[in-house]
Amino acid sequence: PLKAIIFDLDGVITDTAEYHFLAWGALAKELNIPFSKEFNEQLKGISRMESLEKILVHGGKSTDYTEVQKRHLANMKNEHYKKLIDSLTPNDILPGMKKFILEVKNTGIKLAIASASKNAVSVITSLGLKDQFDVIVDAKTIKNGKPDPEVFLTAANLLKVEPKHCIGIEDAAAGVEAIKRAGMFAIGIGSLNTLEKADRVYETTKDVTLKEITKLYAN
Ligand code: G6P
Ligand code: MG
Repeated sequence: PLKAIIFDLDGVITDTAEYHFLAWGALAKELNIPFSKEFNEQLKGISRMESLEKILVHGGKSTDYTEVQKRHLANMKNEHYKKLIDSLTPNDILPGMKKFILEVKNTGIKLAIASASKNAVSVITSLGLKDQFDVIVDAKTIKNGKPDPEVFLTAANLLKVEPKHCIGIEDAAAGVEAIKRAGMFAIGIGSLNTLEKADRVYETTKDVTLKEITKLYAN
């Protein structure tokens, strides 16, 4: 039986994936590195420092900066990102997600967040959803980022639920891979092309219903 649903945060519960995109895009522009929506797909679900490294490698500039300079660049991106999330309110919850989360909760299924972001608690608090989750696991508590399954396995462990009784929901290719490697059922939000490893992909959050995913999970 389905006992828990573990949610990615950025791009699943709220559209902060767009803010990460904007903040990285601005930094890339300053560094004269080409940046596109397509390239940005590779950054989804990936930690701050790993994202920066991917951007620098993409621009052929990875060896131009020292570790200290790289930290400074990552901080600049984060300061920009924090300004963008400063005005987040419950109105920024993606379509259908609030209803879905409350429905899951009312059914007695446990809920967790599994996020690669160090800003996760701040974001979920601004959305007014923090109290709906039994467990929040973020980049501050784990060693290995997605696609490693650690963040999802840690969430299941803290919920005291076996991975096979969990569904994970993700908008990132690295995240879907992490869910599958954790031995869970994976729901993808986005395009079938990017999220081909998911057990089921929905184009947008408003297509996700508890009734349907419970059925898919059971089959
Ligand atoms: C999320 C996003 C990534 C972001 C990562 C780190 O997983 O999908 O785009 O790079 O978190 O976020 P942070 O807020 O710690 O910089
Ligand atoms: Mg995401």
